[in-house]
Amino acid sequence: MIKKCLFPAAGYGTRFLPATKSIPKEMLPIVNKPLIQYGVEEAADAGMTDIAIVTGRGKHAIEDLFDNNRIIEAAVNGTDKESLLEETNRLMRTCTFSYTRQKEMKGLGDAILSGEPLIGNLPFGVVLADDLCTGEHGRDGILAQMLKIYEQHHCSIIAIEEVPEQDTHKYGIVSGVEIEPGLYRVEDMVEKPQGTAPSNLAIIGRYILTPDIFDLLRDTPAGAGGEVQITDALKSQINNGGVIAYKFRGRRFDCGSIHGFVEATNYFYSHFSASDSPRQPGRADNSA
Ligand code: UTP
Repeated sequence: MIKKCLFPAAGYGTRFLPATKSIPKEMLPIVNKPLIQYGVEEAADAGMTDIAIVTGRGKHAIEDLFDNNRIIEAAVNGTDKESLLEETNRLMRTCTFSYTRQKEMKGLGDAILSGEPLIGNLPFGVVLADDLCTGEHGRDGILAQMLKIYEQHHCSIIAIEEVPEQDTHKYGIVSGVEIEPGLYRVEDMVEKPQGTAPSNLAIIGRYILTPDIFDLLRDTPAGAGGEVQITDALKSQINNGGVIAYKFRGRRFDCGSIHGFVEATNYFYSHFSASDSPRQPGRADNSA
């Protein structure tokens, strides 16, 4: 049973300036719920209740979200707005939250390595909160689906989705052998391919990683874009334990981009917030 889930959340979110000058990207709301809360709900629903968050300067608002705020609580208690805090309160009851800082923005691989003291020597989930994922109606979320695959294969699992060929240069791209429908034994991966991509299977922001990844990351020099890339460390795992890529069932919104953020907002508004009165945007597609 994997209990720990790491949230690298130290990035600057420059695509959302000026908002991200003073608000962490992970706190931008889709309807009225911050992006990071959607991710923590997905992890908690998969039984990963030890939440480890890698932050940086100016990210205090994330810690405040998952902490008591007696003044606000007193203001809404007994009113019709009390229910808006229900889900956040449930997470605070059922999860533990720990934080560490990434000292320099040296890339996702370095952010994951910064989380090692919070994770230790056990397999763990990773969620990039700006990839907002929702499972199919009434079904498991993406992390819960990935856990089932981990239980069969006991190696690192990465979530993938097909992207248009002209977009492959924005992603880590995998190629491999399809061992079951939608499940690939990875043979190669390349971060943001400049020329022809080996496939159109793009890595998205959900991983289950085995803890040997930390030693591999320590030995990984900066790669594409001068950043320490998680794909480079995962490449070393291909011949050493193996890596499985999983075409998840559900939908992903790239909320790190303005286009994906607006798409997600429209989707969650129309599925979960059909009226003007504030309400709790639902989890996954379960209330659709
Ligand atoms: P992005 O590539 O989206 O970068 O990071 P960013 O800084 O958040 O956003 P832009 O491109 O400037 O708009 C993907 C994920 O990896 C984390 C980010 O917080 C995000 O969750 N990350 C990235 C780190 O934690 N540290 C890093 O050094 C880089």
